[in-house]
Amino acid sequence: MAGCAEGTGSSRAAKSLYDRLGGKEAITAVVDQFVANVAADARINGRFATTDIPKLKRHLVDQVCMAAGGPCIYTGRDMKTAHAGMKITNADFDALVEDLVGALDKFNVPKREQQELLALLGPMKKDIVEVP
Ligand code: HEM
Repeated sequence: MAGCAEGTGSSRAAKSLYDRLGGKEAITAVVDQFVANVAADARINGRFATTDIPKLKRHLVDQVCMAAGGPCIYTGRDMKTAHAGMKITNADFDALVEDLVGALDKFNVPKREQQELLALLGPMKKDIVEVP
């Protein structure tokens, strides 16, 4: 709608996914929980044995924030480069998505927003999964 500003106001303009998720603080809380879920997930936690976790969290927050239309700039590697040679499988991918949904549920993110976020991440699958 012309003239309807985005941001903190309660205008009837459609809010960005970023705003509906609750902004950067809420995204950071979800990412912290998401990474904790992954760390506790024996199916995939071995993958992150040598990873710099604080840096990974920063990159995930920026990536989600930017994808959702927020004021962040993702400065990490592209998804193909970041996951190259890991031989990530569909099962690995599904396990990680499950851990993300667990985090979203824990913070009561509504299903609509969850689905929108997963729809933004879904297209990355082809660059991440090497072993279908
Ligand atoms: C939609 C799904 C995924 C997204 C959005 C995602 C996102 C990211 C991002 C942003 C980074 C940081 C890149 C950088 O620092 O330059 C990263 C690194 C990493 N990802 Fe993913 N990832 C996904 C799926 C997976 C899956 C399924 C696995 C394995 C189970 C995985 C394993 C890793 C590992 C081990 C690293 C760290 C690499 C390192 O230590 O250098 N990722 N991912």
